[in-house]
Amino acid sequence: MKILLTALACLFPTIGIMAENKIISVDTDKTSMVMQVNPDGKLIHDYYGKKFNGIEPFLIKQYKEQPDNGAGYAPMAYPAYGGLVSIQPALKLTHKDGVQTTDLRYDSHKVTQIDDNREKTEIVLTDPLYDIKVILDYTAYKKEDIITESVTVLNNETGKIAVENIAASYLPLHADDYYLTHFNGIWAAEMQLKEDKLTPGIKSIESKKGLQTTAASNPAFMVSLNQPLNENNGEVYAGALAWSGNFKNTFEIDECDRLHIVAGPNDFASTYYLEPGESLTTPEMIWAYSNTGSGTASRNFHDWVRNYNIAHPEEERAIVLNSWEGAYFDFNEKTITDMIDDAAAIGVEMFVLDDGWFGNGEYARNSDHAGLGDWQVNTEKLPKGIDYLAKYAKNKGLKFGIWIEPEMVNPQSELAQAHPEWIVKSGKRDKIEMRNQLVLDLSNPEVQDFIVTTFDNVLKQSPDISYVKWDANRYISDFGSEYLPEDKQSHFWIDYINGLYAVCDRIREMYPDVTIQLCSSGGARLDMGALKYHDEFWTSDNTNAMDRIFIQYSTNLFYPSLATAAHVSTAPNHQTGLIAPLKFRFDVASSGRLGLELQPKDLKGKEREFAENAIKTYKQIRPIVHHGDLYRLKNPYDGKGWASHQYVSKDKSKAVFFAYSLKYHGRTTYFDTKLQGLDPDKNYRITELNPQGWNKFYGDGQVFPGDYLMNAGISLNIGNPMESTVLLLEEI
Ligand code: GLA
Repeated sequence: MKILLTALACLFPTIGIMAENKIISVDTDKTSMVMQVNPDGKLIHDYYGKKFNGIEPFLIKQYKEQPDNGAGYAPMAYPAYGGLVSIQPALKLTHKDGVQTTDLRYDSHKVTQIDDNREKTEIVLTDPLYDIKVILDYTAYKKEDIITESVTVLNNETGKIAVENIAASYLPLHADDYYLTHFNGIWAAEMQLKEDKLTPGIKSIESKKGLQTTAASNPAFMVSLNQPLNENNGEVYAGALAWSGNFKNTFEIDECDRLHIVAGPNDFASTYYLEPGESLTTPEMIWAYSNTGSGTASRNFHDWVRNYNIAHPEEERAIVLNSWEGAYFDFNEKTITDMIDDAAAIGVEMFVLDDGWFGNGEYARNSDHAGLGDWQVNTEKLPKGIDYLAKYAKNKGLKFGIWIEPEMVNPQSELAQAHPEWIVKSGKRDKIEMRNQLVLDLSNPEVQDFIVTTFDNVLKQSPDISYVKWDANRYISDFGSEYLPEDKQSHFWIDYINGLYAVCDRIREMYPDVTIQLCSSGGARLDMGALKYHDEFWTSDNTNAMDRIFIQYSTNLFYPSLATAAHVSTAPNHQTGLIAPLKFRFDVASSGRLGLELQPKDLKGKEREFAENAIKTYKQIRPIVHHGDLYRLKNPYDGKGWASHQYVSKDKSKAVFFAYSLKYHGRTTYFDTKLQGLDPDKNYRITELNPQGWNKFYGDGQVFPGDYLMNAGISLNIGNPMESTVLLLEEI
């Protein structure tokens, strides 16, 4: 971060720059976000892009293009509604006296070095007429080239103010064309990649579903300037809001063809009242800029997540057998111990007991109609309890995990009878069930305590529980809280999520070592806010390998592979009926965090042998998949019927390459690609992994220079639907 007090009049004598001008630059190793205080004291956004030496001329630019010059737009760093701001504002307040406008002026700023890699810049803005403070809080992550921003508004007025809209960040851009890549989907088809060329007006990507952030749209996006998103070239702005609740990211092209991005919690039914002395802080918005396409921005996000925003990044994720698709609700002790036996025999490292283990009597969890909220072991199904199963797994060399859904309650439960006041509902209206369940009101501290205690009690069942799958199988529809006062019902959306984070903070303090999987009807809650408390996420209930190629491709644009739970399930697939070869299923799942989601005793003969081998192979490539750099080579969304990507270890000594054929390509067509990210001067021995069938890679066992592989490339003998190749490259 640099401050340039403008003694530049001598450098640019004809321009006559005002002495008060000041530049504030938030810098990473390769990018800069430049702001400037203009003579009126307004904080102007000058630039976000490639870092370069000599940013002083921004002072000239701002002098020539005076903001607020009548064009109706000032490229402010954080536009509040008021003055000439007519775009979607980042902040909209009603002051104590009913006045609707705010005029933010620079007050002061402070730069703090957190450590070698992180620098914090705090800019305080005030309004000359109203006693409020708006604090813009930036953190630059140097080597990851990530800049985060969050905003705090502090009310020092003599009465209550209403915060009607508060964004975490605002970014203005100016180019000829803007292409927005975003993610949209539904249960079992999450994170479908969409790209739209933006047109004048506002496009809003948002959620009003409360806790299921990603049940439709994800709060992460990329904007590519002047051309559709490309992996390897072009200017790309990647943004992700770290918020697990209602969000709203708007993209507005104004009358001057300028794009305004406003990202933050959704203002929908969310007016937040601040009493004197109270403040409100937004979640963080995370930004990356790349002038070498989406690949760089994506890798920057992966590095940032692995360094700062996920639990236990250094630990290799265990290979899981999850009981859901193999047993559903229909199991007893023997079903589970048999599954553990089979899992142990083929090299699985963790057994996870999914839904169905709790609730008793009339509320036994034998279907999704009852039991949620009653987190006591079902003594009929599992008379020896959880500790017996966890110890059984331990004796077989497996770790043990368990499923919970602690934010939810079935009306058919003891909890619902005991605490009807804890349930989210809209006043006297009938409660609306989804999957026969209702949501607990996490804005209520008593409910927060209950969830922390539930987690604690579940884990206390056995010292050998080392993994928890935390699910949330519905969204919030008709909101309302018996805990919040009548005039603060609109605090619900924000207080719920802050309540959830408070619970997560407490749980992480109590159980820092436990692995926690983030799950919500598959991948309906996937965002940087929740991810930070978790080790991994359940990417989708759709385990069909063909669909997973698409889901994992777009998910991994932001969220890294080590966290992407990908399970091999049975054929025909339970969600889609597709019959995919076992090799294809393994080759797709092995590019994330490998697991199984089936009844392992159904794997017999050659299939079992193949599975055992593929699990062994995965253990060999796991460090590269988990910690390597991801290069996408072929995009499944381009309609050409191929998908391919590579992970390269940080020291470029190893790589693993995946290629999939999604359709029939014609008899004489084969797959050609150039590899990426290798060291041109290194020689690599290639080994084909999980080989099967006639289409063996000609280069298996051969040595190729990195330069050759990245320029001449390789050809593969795949071209039928659901054929795949996996190659390991090792420096010799
Ligand atoms: C959700 C999850 C599944 C499974 C079921 C159990 O749908 O995504 O993996 O845990 O709940 O009810």
